[in-house]
Amino acid sequence: RFEQSLRPQFLSQYIGQHKVKHNLEIFIEAAKMRQESLDHVLLYGPPGLGKTTLAAVIANEMGVNVKMTSGPAIERPGDLAAIVSSLEPGDVLFIDEIHRLNRSIEEVLYPAMEDFCLDIVVGKGPTARSVRLDLPPFTLIGATTRAGALSAPLRDRFGVMARLEYYDTEALTDIVVRSSQLFEAEIDPNAAVEIARRSRGTPRIANRLLKRVRDYAQVRGTGSITVDMADQALEMLQVDPLGLDHVDHKLLTGMIQRFRGGPVGLDTIAASIGEESTTIEDVYEPYLLQIGFIQRTPRGRVVTATAYEHFGMEVPE
Ligand code: ADE
Repeated sequence: RFEQSLRPQFLSQYIGQHKVKHNLEIFIEAAKMRQESLDHVLLYGPPGLGKTTLAAVIANEMGVNVKMTSGPAIERPGDLAAIVSSLEPGDVLFIDEIHRLNRSIEEVLYPAMEDFCLDIVVGKGPTARSVRLDLPPFTLIGATTRAGALSAPLRDRFGVMARLEYYDTEALTDIVVRSSQLFEAEIDPNAAVEIARRSRGTPRIANRLLKRVRDYAQVRGTGSITVDMADQALEMLQVDPLGLDHVDHKLLTGMIQRFRGGPVGLDTIAASIGEESTTIEDVYEPYLLQIGFIQRTPRGRVVTATAYEHFGMEVPE
């Protein structure tokens, strides 16, 4: 994929997440010095912050292959067996959305993580028997938007837990500038800042907005990405000055107009605006909580005064 070329290959090219990067540098170097596989790593945090990218970077830094799959893709123990038995010593197995693994697979995964072996049941009924399969040492990198949804025994088997944080405007600006260079697109530094500011702390969004602004500048301008072009394109995309899109707007105005700003339960809001509860919880809500537009209370979600002010609405008593 073309987009793949935007992804950094080495930790030194990976922008932001300084704490995580620094810790990983040490653990990677130590494992390499001992010629061991890296301990299993759990990457967690909101979507789009670079968990998949980081897994590929880790494998690259370790000088090993990476096999990528996801929790929902592994339906039966045999699916997992097929993947892990194809690994070479030290390889990385990346499981995205690891919180969606079903429990029967988790149980096969425990001995694989702990002792590098698989116990597979072959046959059915009275002739069923368990076969033990030895595996090469490998590194499991799990990614999830909700570490809390992992079972405790699975979570406990990760030697490294790294929480990815939303990026600040400066880091996102660097990412936008870097991506523009890879696109060979000319960009005004202030336009890069504007795109960064409106990307909800998320590189995936920054790169997507950059591509659309580049399209706009190409068709409506000279191809050069100026602040004007960025503003016009982002307005066309209904991305507001804080980076909130029409789903964020629908969510907040829905809570204000139909539920008097809350408290209102997640499922109730979701049903009223026709979005999945899990999408709201994993994708939209984390950023709105981060910027203080909503709060979670024991009785449900509440819209804050800051959000009312953003929409130019009167804050209720
Ligand atoms: N592209 C997406 N995320 C990135 C990051 N953290 N650093 C550099 N380039 C990126």
